[in-house]
Amino acid sequence: MNTLEAIMTRRSTRSYSAAAVESDKLQKIIEAGRYAPSGGNNQTNHFLVVQNPEVLKKLAALAESAFAKMEVTPETYSSLKSSILLSKKGGYVFYYNAPVLIIVANQKNYGNNLADSAVAVENMMLAANDLNLGSCWINQLHWLTEDEKILAYLREIGLTENERVYASMVVGYAKSADGLPVRKSLPRKGNRRVIDMMIYHDKIEKKEINPGVVFQYLFQGGKQLMGYHWNMADGSKVEMHTHESEQLGYCIKGGFIIVEDGKEYQIGAGDAYIIPANVPHSFVAVGDTEAIDIFHPLRKILPDGNPA
Ligand SMILES: Cc1cc2nc3c(=O)[nH]c(=O)nc-3n(C[C@H](O)[C@H](O)[C@H](O)COP(=O)(O)O)c2cc1C
Repeated sequence: MNTLEAIMTRRSTRSYSAAAVESDKLQKIIEAGRYAPSGGNNQTNHFLVVQNPEVLKKLAALAESAFAKMEVTPETYSSLKSSILLSKKGGYVFYYNAPVLIIVANQKNYGNNLADSAVAVENMMLAANDLNLGSCWINQLHWLTEDEKILAYLREIGLTENERVYASMVVGYAKSADGLPVRKSLPRKGNRRVIDMMIYHDKIEKKEINPGVVFQYLFQGGKQLMGYHWNMADGSKVEMHTHESEQLGYCIKGGFIIVEDGKEYQIGAGDAYIIPANVPHSFVAVGDTEAIDIFHPLRKILPDGNPA
């Protein structure tokens, strides 16, 4: 996995199997954290790597008891609110029962404590993804960093007098059918810049959604329009489906049998087609086929089954 792939496929994993993380893999993850940049090259991050189930349980109990004493107000940050409410209910384990919790502490009087911890955590999450391990940022110990009991316990396990917790993360094998972390992309919103109006096609990922059916976004940043580019091997199919968008297609090469609203049409290179909104339709490629499709308004469900 190259760096960009690791970035684009990293997702937060919140369900872990009991399998231990091999120590060589854990070592690589921590090295990735140590090799993160630091302000003025201070290198004051301190990694407390907790694997002992008793220590993990004790931290969960201390955090639960601290959150349970807090009150929710209309201003309470939503994630903190759920920690408080779940703790009041009882049985709250803030680290998702992952086998490893990496706490990143730093000097409380150092101006880049939070930034240095954050870049280290990101490096470690990317390394975990590269090693097929799931990970997730865990903020609870940062919120509770001034809690007397937690501070005292963390000092027992290695935190020094002037250090506080700025971030933490869990890592472990995902509890999934294939043991791999969730990698389904989560759409990103906002912060689009003008540069997003140019998308170079060879930079866009190709996805094979059915055998022989490969799709790429033509463009994903439009407000009213979106489009795909398709390559379909001879005989490959896009099964019957509908969407709320009107679709305008253009066959560049090869051809299709299109079944649209119960009628069959055969089209070839240079032909265009319209599929009205909410009309069931399917495609079978005749010869090796290439086409583009434009949709208006934006599709809510994408051809790979992901929400837009
Ligand atoms: C500063 C920060 C704090 C976060 N705190 C938590 C947390 O306490 N618990 C949690 O489950 N996820 C936490 N997350 C993960 C975000 O919820 C997650 O990154 C976001 O929902 C996007 O999903 P993705 O990581 O799968 O792309 C945190 C992320 C960041 C950057």
